Amino acid sequence: MTAIVHYQSTAVPLDHGETVLDALLRSGFDIPHGCKAGACHACMLQSESELPATAQAGLKENQKSLGYFLACQCKPAEAITIAGAAEATKRSSAEVISIQSLSKSVVRLQLKADFKYIAGQYINLWKDPLTCRSYSLASIPTEDNILELHIKIFEHGVFGQWIENDLRPGDKVDISGPMGECFYSGDKSSPLLMLAMGTGLAPIYGILQDALVKGHVGKINIVAAARDANDLYYLDLLSNMAKFNPQLNTHFVAQCSDGRENVTEADVYSYVKAEFSSTKGYRVYLCGGENFVKKMKRQAFLAGANMPDIYADVFLAFGE
Ligand code: FES
Repeated sequence: MTAIVHYQSTAVPLDHGETVLDALLRSGFDIPHGCKAGACHACMLQSESELPATAQAGLKENQKSLGYFLACQCKPAEAITIAGAAEATKRSSAEVISIQSLSKSVVRLQLKADFKYIAGQYINLWKDPLTCRSYSLASIPTEDNILELHIKIFEHGVFGQWIENDLRPGDKVDISGPMGECFYSGDKSSPLLMLAMGTGLAPIYGILQDALVKGHVGKINIVAAARDANDLYYLDLLSNMAKFNPQLNTHFVAQCSDGRENVTEADVYSYVKAEFSSTKGYRVYLCGGENFVKKMKRQAFLAGANMPDIYADVFLAFGE
């Protein structure tokens, strides 16, 4: 039986294995979307029909009870009628404050917005009414309302190029969120192990600041890794923070150190295994690409960390 999606007076039959989002896009509807992987929630729609559980995975209980679902994760077996044509998440306006290079491939985007979040969460940045990307916040909530994002620039990456070349201070952009559950909480004396690959340092930096502001007294080890040492950033900033916070240790690791001072040339997995042979009792924060997070999660667990004490922020690839 072919499932049918009823949307704005149109019946759209789903191809075998197709998601509601892909079917609606194929039929010419403009549906906001970003990751197509269930993370950004940009494609959220609403329905009173029965929905597959996967379509509501990761949503809050009140959203589920209101019939919200993620169109990119929804492959209904039977007909569904979509009630909400509009995107269900609220967007707010933010002003571009600065765009500054942090390394040869990363820029820092600072936005000003009255926006509630917890350090370590991520937001959606909208390039136009239909297209967004998720970026983790490197800032902590303060009275100046400055949000900090670290953007990896790819040669043909649509978002990075837009941010680096088109955005100017004073421009207005839309943001939505926040999302994510990778943030500081719990016992202030537990040892923390924070592992970041590439711009995974953004949420780790936010979580680190939050931990220090909240008076964390246990040991904190932060490992910032990249393939190439020239992609590492915030070395001086983090090293200086360590000078004033004796509980903080910094480690900078790259496969190719390029002779840079303070950078250890090593495979990050072997480095972490050797330096932290036991992670029993640690709270572990992992931020970076899917493979990195998956591998490190397994490694930290096998070294003794409890699974509920391992927090992760996975960056999804958009092929850019
Ligand atoms: S596009 Fe559906 S959750 Fe990101």
